[in-house]
Order: sequence, then structure tokens, then C-alpha cells
Amino acid sequence: MQRRKLVAGNWKMNGVRASLSELHAMRDAVRAGQASHVDLLICPPATLLAAAVTAVDGAFHIGGQTCHDAPSGAYTGEVSAAMLADAGARYVILGHSERRTLFGETDAMVRSKAQAAAEAGLIRIVCVGETESERLDGRALDVIERQLAASLPDAATGADMIVAYEPVWAIGTGRTPTLEDVAQVHRAMRTALVGRYGEQVGQAMRLLYGGSVKSGNCAELMAAEDVDGALVGGASLKSADIMAICAAIHAV
Ligand code: 13P
Repeated sequence: MQRRKLVAGNWKMNGVRASLSELHAMRDAVRAGQASHVDLLICPPATLLAAAVTAVDGAFHIGGQTCHDAPSGAYTGEVSAAMLADAGARYVILGHSERRTLFGETDAMVRSKAQAAAEAGLIRIVCVGETESERLDGRALDVIERQLAASLPDAATGADMIVAYEPVWAIGTGRTPTLEDVAQVHRAMRTALVGRYGEQVGQAMRLLYGGSVKSGNCAELMAAEDVDGALVGGASLKSADIMAICAAIHAV
């Protein structure tokens, strides 16, 4: 099945109003046709969401980095999926390993957030991935399959659910798995998704790779079967870097 590649930028806790100039540069580059072969998404911090939507002026999509599973209420400091949608977000990243390890998010919480995000009309990007010790112990596939089973809700379509494989040890480290390891994990994820959601939905869901993606390594990573795009941290902050990644994918 032909799946259009998605390049998704996760700005994490980076970005102030001055950073909107990078979004303006990305908007202009997209309008000049530099990313016409991929879908582009940037997920800035919540404080910049509405301004980011205005800044990119429909040239590409803006998303959130997490959400609460309740639509509203007494949850000081939290942002609901409906609020992200109201600010103009179309996607939300859920269950990033930083959320899981630093903020105690469990598979059950991620699943509940994913349900809430769908109710708000958001496309979910659910992250999974093993730690270094889990990989060294030969448990990577077990961990990922368990996270997939427990973090994804039963109701999902090929269009409203995206899965990102982010090995924890590859995030922000400059290290990446081998092409064979990425291909093996993505193949296993595809098999699990087809088993759970059926052939049509499972084949339509896009599977992203994330962890130290740069313009220099992404052509190789994106060429692996069942890799349908990238979730990019550090190299998504600057227009020149993310556009170089888009350009490298062109060659795939
Ligand atoms: P880096 O691209 O900075 O390694 O971050 C990856 C990531 O965590 C994206 O969600």
C-alpha cells in the first residue's frame, strides 16, 4: 500500500514567540514546493499553538505534544484535546517516552488520552519504544508489542491513528538503530496492527521512526519498508534543518 510520508517535528519544551520566524520560513519553503512530496507537521509548545496556526497560514499542520483525557475541569496546568483542537491543532503526540518516564504516563493513560483526542477530532501519534537495556536483553519487540496492545484504543482508523517507534536510547543521543533493526520493529508493528484492526486499517496506518533523525541519515531510515515518515526532535526547530530532511526524503 502506498502511504504518504509524514515529517513531524516535536519541539518539546523549546520555542518562544521569536521562534515563529522559523515557522514563517517553513511556511514560505512549503509554499515554494520544497515539501510537496510529504505531509509536514510541527508540534510546538502549547503556549505557541494558536500563534503557530496563524503563522503557517494553512501551509502545513500544527499539533500538540500531549493532552489530558478529560474535556475540561479542575486539572491545574493541563490542556485538553478539545482545547488543542480549538487552538487549531490537527494532531497530538501521545505517550512520548519523556511523558512516560518523566511524568509517569502509563499505557492505560495513553490509551485514555488517545480516546479523548479522537473525540476532539485530532489525529493521534502514539509513541512506543524500548530502553537500551530492554534492547540489550533481547526484549525490544516484546516491549513494543505490549505498549501497542495497551496504549492504543480499540477504535481507530487508518487516517486517525499514527504510531511512532522511538527507541528511548536513540532520542537526542545521535545514535540510531541499524536499518535492519528499524525494519524489523516496523514489520512487527505492522503485523500487530493488521492483527488487531484488520488488513485495511492496519495497512493504512502510518508508522514513523523517531530518534536522532537528521538530513544525513533520514534517506536511509525512510527507505526501510513500513517506515512512513519521521518524528523529529532537535532537527525540527530550524526551518533549514527540517526542509533538508524533507528534501532527503525526496530521494527515497
Ligand atoms: P531527537 O530527534 O532530538 O533525537 O528527538 C526525537 C524525539 O524525541 C521526537 O519526538
